[in-house]
Amino acid sequence: MPVLLKHVGGRIGSAELDRLQRRAATLLRLTGQHRAELSLLLVDDRRMRELNHHYRGRDRTTNVLAFAMREAEDLPSGDQADLLGDVVLSLDTALSEAQSEGISREQRLTWLLIHGLLHLLGYDHEKSDDEAREMARAETKLHSQLNAEERNRKMPHLAVNVDHVATLRQARGIAEPDPVLAAGICELAGAAGIVVHLREDRRHIQDRDVLLLRQTVKSKLNLEMAAAPEIIDFALELKPDMVTLVPEKRQELTTEGGLDILGQQQNLTRVIATMNDAGIPVSLFVDPDQAQIEAAADSGATFVEIHTGRYCDATSEEQREQEFALVARAAEEALAAGLRVNAGHGLDYLTTARVAALGTIEELSIGHAIMARAIMVGLEKAVREMAQIVQQAS
Ligand code: PXP
Repeated sequence: MPVLLKHVGGRIGSAELDRLQRRAATLLRLTGQHRAELSLLLVDDRRMRELNHHYRGRDRTTNVLAFAMREAEDLPSGDQADLLGDVVLSLDTALSEAQSEGISREQRLTWLLIHGLLHLLGYDHEKSDDEAREMARAETKLHSQLNAEERNRKMPHLAVNVDHVATLRQARGIAEPDPVLAAGICELAGAAGIVVHLREDRRHIQDRDVLLLRQTVKSKLNLEMAAAPEIIDFALELKPDMVTLVPEKRQELTTEGGLDILGQQQNLTRVIATMNDAGIPVSLFVDPDQAQIEAAADSGATFVEIHTGRYCDATSEEQREQEFALVARAAEEALAAGLRVNAGHGLDYLTTARVAALGTIEELSIGHAIMARAIMVGLEKAVREMAQIVQQAS
């Protein structure tokens, strides 16, 4: 995790915590330290006073403390996964400073975070007036870079996977319910894309469905598929708006994990080049794993779709936090590697908002949760509710 955030004292909501952690990760990237780790500690004034007293001999609270792990000349180069150090922020002092400046506490915390990070990177305003001016300039520059990034934040779209409409149809082997009709309803209800997985065993979506969808989908058709010769030929003929390559096993109930890109890089690079030559952009479904993401970038993919399954399936709060941090980091790494970023698998009406709010993700691919809810409330309402969650996340 690039930003190890620990909330020790003081009151702060989880959405604000997420935003602060995301800003810290963006700041690491903007300073060329996207692989480095930063420990960020949020405390109250009582704890801050203890730390200030213990480490600096000053028996009073303060707004920010920074403890570098390295001397400035010994900083990790941008591609080293090394701990830069700790930044400690007092939530209480940040609040009173924000009130006297007439800004929000979150804005004040952001300035303090920038200040602390620059200390870790070797700036020191206490050394001389010149250094103080240099540090102030660096703070202003980093702050405006961060603002520019946030203005360009990606508001994700919802792409609906309609496989399970076909699953229900295939259970009876008749014509209904029809995934093509369902796709139209999803689009009318706010879906910005339709996803179908044409599996080699054709257990749900059939060739005919995909051919009809190619003619009827008005938004964007994303064909999920294995990199298998027969399906590749089908895709080249069909020319969907994009394809997402996934691993496929005959016995699995659903896609179980990301592609092992490293283990089949040559083949994937060749398949991606063939698709690109036919004008079809390729997304690779990946676990939130740095090595796999780098391999995805090297293989010429346009997108990665980050696997959110382990975040969604987490069985404890601690595990969920860990898995979420991996997804957030993977999205940052993918962006830094020049990839466009989608995410999906297992997302539901509770787990989606946080991923949608990351600001790094273009599209969320969601199927099962929407279809399960559709049985209860109707497909149009189920899609509208999810589209609202995706669009309103911040
Ligand atoms: N993304 C990929 C690559 C998938 O294989 C699937 C399942 O078909 C999804 C997203 C959608 O997952 P879910 O049905 O759990 O929303």
